[in-house]
Amino acid sequence: MTLNDAAAARLDDLQHQHLKRALLPCPVSGRAFDFSSNDYLCLSTHPEVVDAGMAMARRYGAGATGSRLLSGNLDCFEQLEAQIARFKQAEAALLYATGYQANSSGLAALLDKTLWAGQEPLVFSDRLNHASLHHACQLAGVKQLRFRHNDFEHLTELLNKHRGSEQPKIIVTETVFGMEGDLLLVEELAELALGHRAVVYLDEAHATGVWGPEGRGLGALQTPAIEALKAMGHWVVMGTFSKGVGVSGAYIACSAVLKHYLLNRSTGFVYSTAPSPFVVGAIGKALELIPALEPDRQTLQTNAQALRDMLHAMGFNTGLSNTHIVPVLVGQASHALALKDHLLQLGIRASAIRPPTVPPHTARVRLALNTGHHGLHVHALVEALRHWSTHPSAHSSDVNLG
Ligand SMILES: Cc1ncc(COP(=O)(O)O)c(C=O)c1O
Repeated sequence: MTLNDAAAARLDDLQHQHLKRALLPCPVSGRAFDFSSNDYLCLSTHPEVVDAGMAMARRYGAGATGSRLLSGNLDCFEQLEAQIARFKQAEAALLYATGYQANSSGLAALLDKTLWAGQEPLVFSDRLNHASLHHACQLAGVKQLRFRHNDFEHLTELLNKHRGSEQPKIIVTETVFGMEGDLLLVEELAELALGHRAVVYLDEAHATGVWGPEGRGLGALQTPAIEALKAMGHWVVMGTFSKGVGVSGAYIACSAVLKHYLLNRSTGFVYSTAPSPFVVGAIGKALELIPALEPDRQTLQTNAQALRDMLHAMGFNTGLSNTHIVPVLVGQASHALALKDHLLQLGIRASAIRPPTVPPHTARVRLALNTGHHGLHVHALVEALRHWSTHPSAHSSDVNLG
């Protein structure tokens, strides 16, 4: 069998299960009716953000020219990292080219046995953690003890089971879950972790810019337990610049010594070219703007609650959502594709999310609100969903799999 034959057969297989994916062109002019974008604060097109990116590229060039450890350590990176550390109320921060790299290689470095005098860490992971967090565990070759989503009773049970163990304990979770749209109880988690002297690794991909004090993320909350964990280096906060910040790239905010360890041992940092200076300039400006966007953040959450209320009144299930991310749970992958196509035919873009991104039988259409959505856009969305709910024939599995 040739590689082409094998790939074609695998794609046929995915198509039959309604799990095949395809790239769709995304017209910039249609952004207003786009509920699939993660540009929650519309900063990707903010003129000051774009100008700051261009100014930085003019000064330093379009590319960094190498890994930070070789030719790529421009002073703009060091300045941005100091800014990120202040933004996150952390001692230090390390910049990555993508969130996927930060998680898969940054977390993997924390789970490396050689860091812990040869002991394999016990990793307590939320069942719904992002793929990049799972891949970090695979890369490090560690087993995960998975707790039910956001279920601290279950987490406590697992932690208690290992209370006597000498192995280091690391709790890995997200502050805003990207596919459920629900929040972590950060203060409670910090108390629990402190009681077990566990390290906390938080993914703030969907919270950065949007949640927490002045949009700094929920990991920037200050409580005695969080401060105590920070003092031990046990409060490690990752986030992306690709969503609420509107650019691309990611950070790990942590202690200074841990930053130094990561820049030695995190392969996605060591063996990858540093981000473009454009990205650095744009992120720096977005971080300057974010604290003052409190009214936008409040409107975003008010709109999300109004949308959930309207969807519930029509009988839709929005699962656990209590943030700007509102999933419409439909169960089967074919139904999610059909609903996404129905919306697209009416000029509304949303994402069909299917296994393995979400657990089996929980396929959904994910609606992500942003500060550019106004009454008109939400009204059009609600009417399109009403049309779907009142035309049961639309639920047929005879769908376009494109
Ligand atoms: C929770 C979470 N973590 C990490 C990532 C990866 O971030 P990036 O898109 O910057 O690679 C994503 C993106 O989808 C995410 O949702």
